[in-house]
Amino acid sequence: MKALVTGAAGRVGRRLTTRLRDAGVDVEALVLPDDTAGQEWLTAQGVRCYVGTLGERQLLREACAGASYVVHLAAVMDWSSEADHTVFEQNVRGTLNLVEAAAGSTELRRFFLASSDEVYPSLGAAYVPIDEAHPQRPYSAYGLSKQLAESIVDYFGRARRVPVTTARFALVTEAREVLSPDGWLGRFLFARPFLGMLRATGREAAAAVLEAAGGYDPDVLVDAMDDAGQPYTFHVVDVRDLVEGIWLQLTEEAAVGETFNLSGPAPFTYSEAADLLAEATGRRVVRVRLPGVRIDVSHDITKAQRMLGYAPEIDIGRLIGTATRAGAAKE
Ligand SMILES: NC(=O)c1ccc[n+]([C@@H]2O[C@H](COP(=O)([O-])OP(=O)(O)OC[C@H]3O[C@@H](n4cnc5c(N)ncnc54)[C@H](O)[C@@H]3O)[C@@H](O)[C@H]2O)c1
Repeated sequence: MKALVTGAAGRVGRRLTTRLRDAGVDVEALVLPDDTAGQEWLTAQGVRCYVGTLGERQLLREACAGASYVVHLAAVMDWSSEADHTVFEQNVRGTLNLVEAAAGSTELRRFFLASSDEVYPSLGAAYVPIDEAHPQRPYSAYGLSKQLAESIVDYFGRARRVPVTTARFALVTEAREVLSPDGWLGRFLFARPFLGMLRATGREAAAAVLEAAGGYDPDVLVDAMDDAGQPYTFHVVDVRDLVEGIWLQLTEEAAVGETFNLSGPAPFTYSEAADLLAEATGRRVVRVRLPGVRIDVSHDITKAQRMLGYAPEIDIGRLIGTATRAGAAKE
């Protein structure tokens, strides 16, 4: 059985490639021409690479021919306004090109789309926990591109009877990234990148409070609360749990035509995360009450639990535990 995976050389793609191959699935991949490191890694795994972009319709038709699973992970993840047209071209038109090509495979069992919680968006939810029925009001071209990609895929499911399924990923973490201020999660938990994020989103008053409390120190962690002392909360998914969720969407019949939140077992507070990280790394925590809207990210994953048997296990304690154990980079 063959799977065509786009974005197979990325963070999620590498993990998924390994998971699929362990399950006996023959993986083939679409890889960008300039991603030589990705091509090398995939080739070393025995994965056939189709080198090109989501704009090459003939290449996509060849790549999808005979595929039982088409897993669409590739996306331009760029939030700068200069990238808007590239984001739409690759994420929206690219998805149309790919699902159309996948529809031509006589073997197709599932077309999987990787969407994002930025379609809601989670940072600015109307209510929590966010379920799949939450209104969609994306605030970035990237989020909008995912919303449009979802609509295209839905259409192919409805009108062309393609067995589609979509997942809205929470922020995806690799254990080793938690310890770094440059990692996806580290950017939220270390004071300095968090300060930059507050500034970038126009929260100057909150940034000033954090800065006055020592938020410029590169080694300091942040425990943020709102003015009333309510803790900031966050919800992420470890890539290992995520890959199991994708596998279930590929193999469970109940996934067809459905969209699922794929997030971790539970949200966590900043104080919980900061204390665990401080204990594990010896870093200092700065505790601040910030003016303005509290970050309160929490996803409802009961639909995936109920319909697919999704059972994520890696909470913030285990994530940090894995990261600090020797050899975490190899996990
Ligand atoms: N990382 C997160 O926190 C997160 C959160 C929500 C959703 N997602 C979604 O999950 C998917 C995978 O994310 P990731 O973290 O593995 O990203 P990644 O950047 O590590 O991997 C994406 C891969 O897609 C490839 N790619 C990009 N544009 C392409 C194109 N036009 N044609 C072919 N290949 C292309 C890149 O070379 C890269 O290998 C993406 O669709 C992303 O939008 C990620």
